Amino acid sequence: MNRTKVGIIGCGNISSIYLKSDKTFDNLEIVACADLDPARAQARAAEYNIKAYTVDQLLADPDLEIVVNLTIPAAHAEVSTAVLNAGKHAYHEKPFALNRADGRKILETAQTQHRRVGCAPDTFLGGGLQTCRKLIDDGAIGEPIAATAFMMSHGHETWHPDPAFYYKPGGGPMFDMGPYYLTALVSIMGAVKRVTGSTRITFPERTITSQPKNGEKIRVEVPTHVTGLLEFANGAIGTIIQTFDVWSANLPRLEIYGTEGSLSLPDPNTFGGPVRIRRAADKEWQDVPLTHIYTENSRGIGVADMAAAIRSHRPHRASGELAHHVLDIMQAFHDAADQGKHIELTSTCERPAALPVGLKPGAVEL
Ligand SMILES: NC(=O)c1ccc[n+]([C@@H]2O[C@H](COP(=O)([O-])OP(=O)(O)OC[C@H]3O[C@@H](n4cnc5c(N)ncnc54)[C@H](O)[C@@H]3O)[C@@H](O)[C@H]2O)c1
Repeated sequence: MNRTKVGIIGCGNISSIYLKSDKTFDNLEIVACADLDPARAQARAAEYNIKAYTVDQLLADPDLEIVVNLTIPAAHAEVSTAVLNAGKHAYHEKPFALNRADGRKILETAQTQHRRVGCAPDTFLGGGLQTCRKLIDDGAIGEPIAATAFMMSHGHETWHPDPAFYYKPGGGPMFDMGPYYLTALVSIMGAVKRVTGSTRITFPERTITSQPKNGEKIRVEVPTHVTGLLEFANGAIGTIIQTFDVWSANLPRLEIYGTEGSLSLPDPNTFGGPVRIRRAADKEWQDVPLTHIYTENSRGIGVADMAAAIRSHRPHRASGELAHHVLDIMQAFHDAADQGKHIELTSTCERPAALPVGLKPGAVEL
């Protein structure tokens, strides 16, 4: 197979799983990495036996077809725009951008450069959420009428080595974790047409307790408790809470309620199950066996799918359009809270195609 050569910009915490993705997916070959901090790039390059570049060198390498941008949220738009302008396809981590204007600029640049743009999360392509997608498409709970999405936590400063960005623009629980929940819901139920929301900052200052920055203070610049209502184009109504302000809760992570039953979805920040269903006549929830593969941490499946889609001339699933719609929804919750009203969304997207049943490990196409 003619594998797609991939370079990675941003050699921080999440990079290790992407650096391994060519062991999981047959059609990828990770060949180089770069970082603002050359020592980080050199360390990763040595660990994975690939080339260490500066960002400019990486963008100038004619062999690289796709560049995966794993920088911090504030750099996503700038770095991916540079990737596209260098004539390469860009795929970056969530969120798609800090705001709609930057998101639109990325989409426009991709269009003018005739290059693809893709974006995480790709957990919706995991075996758990693809099983849910199939259940909904097969009518297992009838017509979806409502959904709930709850991410109840107390933030990242206890474990992440450099957690300040989670409390700056582009961070916050909605921009950080909302993409998992919203991408799962939009990929299964379709686009959203209108939202409203309320937000607050409970703790204006956070103290880092992880190493190496233990004891440093972070000034919180974005809402850390966000509650929203979503009206899907199909008529279903969603309720979402994404918070870094809560110590514990008993709420389910993700559920979809239909005219004939209810579906309990897995944690959308994972690739596997459990998937459970309770139809109208059932006395108990039933575990549903997963119908799709990729149930372990398979980050990079979105990149592999984009690489395969480029060769097959078909749309890729973890697309810029999907990620931009999710960004529009997330920004609209904050706008609704600031303005005290519902916000009609200006963006929309197609549901990405379901992955086929029966894929062989390492493949994203039959
Ligand atoms: N850490 C996780 O568990 C996790 C999980 C899923 C997604 N993500 C997402 O992945 C992205 C990166 O997160 P992380 O935890 O790896 O962050 P990190 O701070 O550990 O790493 C980011 C890296 O990007 C580099 N960088 C920043 N700006 C750059 C630029 N302009 N050019 C080149 N390099 C630049 C930094 O030097 C750093 O090495 C974020 O968008 C985050 O939301 C992280």
